[in-house]
Amino acid sequence: MAKAHESTHPLVKHKLSILRDKATEPRKFRELVSEITALLTYEATADLTTKERSVVTPMGEAAGFQVEENIGLVPILRAGLGMVDGIWDLMPDAQVWHIGLYRDEKTLQPVQYYNKLPTAPTVGVCLVLDPMLATGGSAAATINIIKKWGVKKIKYIGILGAPEGIEHLSKEHPDVPIYLGAIDSHLNDIGYIVPGLGDAGDRQFGTG
Ligand code: PRP
Ligand code: URA
Repeated sequence: MAKAHESTHPLVKHKLSILRDKATEPRKFRELVSEITALLTYEATADLTTKERSVVTPMGEAAGFQVEENIGLVPILRAGLGMVDGIWDLMPDAQVWHIGLYRDEKTLQPVQYYNKLPTAPTVGVCLVLDPMLATGGSAAATINIIKKWGVKKIKYIGILGAPEGIEHLSKEHPDVPIYLGAIDSHLNDIGYIVPGLGDAGDRQFGTG
């Protein structure tokens, strides 16, 4: 089976269980998406490069560091939007480049409706954000767009993934590491993750 990083962190497991619960209301759901994303981002960014930067403390000079790479967050609309704030708390200077895709309900194929990327890339690293990796079609299409834009270092961060989506994404983009809160059992006959959490967009935006 294709590989993905599945978090083993107790806080992720705890928060994910509340997130899955059908009784969890949109306000709490949004808070949890944000917190889980921040925890997953900590795991996904351990290899960012840094450069030295000395700082003056009240006691004298200290050797310090700063993250060297410009980082772009790429939330896939709609559901990926809720993952931005948790990362912005950690990296306030990250750029955000939205990609709009929805999944056709019958074919399960991604349909693009928004992309305003400028001609030349403005970041060195992209974190693609979408809570649900189901068939993997939306994530793979978004990563194709980012690669065409010219970015080479790309990571996918999601909250739940199905084995089918992990297989698809890692076959089409073997160079893109996949970070997930949990890997679930399978997709049902209408392409939903089981046991999953239902429709991530509807649960965040109260539209279900
Ligand atoms: C959901 C989800 C992903 C996609 C995953 O979006 O947020 O973008 O489905 O499915 P896939 O892996 O099979 O492509 P949806 O199409 O429901 O749009 P929304 O976020 O606007 O609700
Ligand atoms: N999109 C969702 O929001 N949930 C799923 O289970 C699959 C795709």
